[in-house]
Amino acid sequence: MELPQRVTIIEVGPRDGLQNEKQLVPAEDKIRFIHKLKSSGIQEMELTSFVSPKWVPQMGDAEQVIEHCTDDSTRNIVLVPNGKGVERLLSSGCKNAAFFVGVSDTFNRKNINKSTRESMDELAPLIRDLKRKGFFVRACISTAFYCPYEGKMDEQAVLKLCEEFSDLGVDELSVADTIGLANPQEVYDLFALLKHHLPSALLIAAHFHDTRGMALANIFSALQAGVDRFDTSAGGLGGCPFAPGATGNVATEDTVYMLNRMGISTGIQLDLLLEAVEFISPFVSRGLQSRQYLLSKQEKTPR
Ligand code: HMG
Ligand code: MG
Repeated sequence: MELPQRVTIIEVGPRDGLQNEKQLVPAEDKIRFIHKLKSSGIQEMELTSFVSPKWVPQMGDAEQVIEHCTDDSTRNIVLVPNGKGVERLLSSGCKNAAFFVGVSDTFNRKNINKSTRESMDELAPLIRDLKRKGFFVRACISTAFYCPYEGKMDEQAVLKLCEEFSDLGVDELSVADTIGLANPQEVYDLFALLKHHLPSALLIAAHFHDTRGMALANIFSALQAGVDRFDTSAGGLGGCPFAPGATGNVATEDTVYMLNRMGISTGIQLDLLLEAVEFISPFVSRGLQSRQYLLSKQEKTPR
């Protein structure tokens, strides 16, 4: 097997992890969570979203979070859905944007109230403008495997959407199994196809939700297809409010543990990461399911 020696983790807990929580987490505690995550060695992170607070109330404090979290060398990323989101981004100190579009038209309408084509037409000039201004831009490709409304997605449609973003000059694609239904064979096939057709300078990350417990197997499969960047969420938190059936993202601590054991470095200290998970656990309504977190509660279990 040819596996990378180093993998980059893009922590999405403060954004994907918390966006689905009904009970509002105070901004100051989100900020402490983010700082604890950074202390563990995380270098790239989605902090929050400049989306409509009516659609996602939990992200309503995005400006406050950004104000206290972007003064460092971490790649601090904010999700933006439209022109209004970009306006908010430009007024903030943040220099890294993530746009998000579904391969599935139905999902895209439920998530951002536009067809996929309408979203692309709206986003194209915004992306070009941010690139001219020197921003880092990632594009999150939702429902790249399955859609909760339309079922299995066509690989060629995924490739076409990725190529369109690539032509617009984005720096990174984050290709998502939004509802955690993909299997390792499908993951290998899609990432091998993308790696083959897209420019090698384009960063490609894999974003797995762990609804059916297949996310670590899918990470291993993606590694074999040449992927060395993974979106993960501390505590295994996460889920999109507009994707029924989606549970949390694969847990950062489980991913880091697996990679460490395989001799693949991430630069993240597991013990400090677990402290961040412990910190956020009282603020979330569902019990944290990550293996490493649960094991850390049983003192004598060897890790
Ligand atoms: P809309 O209702 O069609 O928006 O929503 P609109 O343009 O008609 O505007 C309606 C109102 O919203 C106006 O305010 C706008 O100013 C305001 P009003 O005049 O009524 O007072 N508005 C905004 N306010 C703040 N920030 C903005 C903004 N835009 C408009 N950016 C909209 C369209 C895109 C806003 C809405 O659908 C939305 O916010 N959607 C976000 C959904 C979301 O956050 N989903 C989760 C993130 S994606 C995800 O989790 C998937 C991912 O993890 C990958 C994977 O797993 O698949 C990335
Ligand atoms: Mg997600």
